[in-house]
Amino acid sequence: MFLKDTWYVAAWSHEISATHPFSRTIIGQPVVFWRGENGEVVALPDRCPHRAAPLSKGRIEEGQIRCMYHGLKFSSSGACVQVPGMQHIPPAACLPALRVVERSNWVWIWMGDPALADPGLIPDTYWLDSPAWRYQPDYIHYDVNYLLIADNLLDFSHLPFLHETTLGGSAGYAESRALVERSDSGVRINRWFTDGPPAPFVKNLTGWSANVDRWNIYDFLVPGVLLMDSGSAPAGQGAQAGNRENAVQFRSAQAITPESEHSSHYFFSQAHDFAIDDPRVTAQLHGDVVAAFKEDWDMIHAQQRSLALDPDFKMMPLPVDNALGHFRWLMNKRIKAQQQRVVQAGAGLQSVSATVTA
Ligand code: FES
Ligand SMILES: [Fe+2]
Repeated sequence: MFLKDTWYVAAWSHEISATHPFSRTIIGQPVVFWRGENGEVVALPDRCPHRAAPLSKGRIEEGQIRCMYHGLKFSSSGACVQVPGMQHIPPAACLPALRVVERSNWVWIWMGDPALADPGLIPDTYWLDSPAWRYQPDYIHYDVNYLLIADNLLDFSHLPFLHETTLGGSAGYAESRALVERSDSGVRINRWFTDGPPAPFVKNLTGWSANVDRWNIYDFLVPGVLLMDSGSAPAGQGAQAGNRENAVQFRSAQAITPESEHSSHYFFSQAHDFAIDDPRVTAQLHGDVVAAFKEDWDMIHAQQRSLALDPDFKMMPLPVDNALGHFRWLMNKRIKAQQQRVVQAGAGLQSVSATVTA
């Protein structure tokens, strides 16, 4: 059971073109994307209502899409506009367009009740579209349930162990206590590690060897969006009190979107605001982050295989798990509320039909 009434990241902007349909499965439903005549992103179910051929195997014709099995053609709103050989178009030949919003290089999609799709709920990721920040957008596919990736991102105490030579740092980082604030939309995690050695990737970028004050401050929001302010500054200059002079700062935007119960999409970026005219810095930072995310990928897939061998295995909670405990609780709460809305809507429909029948 997935949360449907929420905005998911469906794609990076550059993945969707006006010439070729693009397919991606979101919460178990195949979706076809392309750009309409005005460049706007369009999303329809990727299943032709005629014989279920994927529309993504079709052809874009002046902002519309033609199924290349028997030739049905659909407008960007999902209306069937042509059935070869027929004058009359059956109403059942239309598809429900999905709500999409393109903002700051991410394409967001709403898979649930369109009446609830408020674009104001989309979190702000301004640095993905700001000349003050540079990054390389990227994507990784996971063959695991999305909650295992969320668990990983909600507990950075794994950094010095799993990412010993990449994002890591000393074991002291894991011992620094993260401040966790719970909210109705997720958690805010605030972790400072002062007067410790710079992380390997920061050493690579800066050549620093002296101790630093390091921070990771991030929101992890329903349904799986991580927005982070992180960085390192020379130790003792008062970075925690707000002095970020001579600091290296990063803004991370990451999003997990379930593909199915057993597979997930992971969109990520690590932006920097220093040396933004030097593409080598962007490439090096990106390379270090990708190396670390490969470590996560290997461990989380191994964890999934381990769990699959014993479906009754109960995880042992530790105090470091409090953020991920809250997030899982929040997701369950949202999914239950969604189920209740569906049941109430069904009861409402039944009482209307009973009234009409009477
Ligand atoms: S399956 Fe698409 S036109 Fe027949
Ligand atoms: Fe990690």
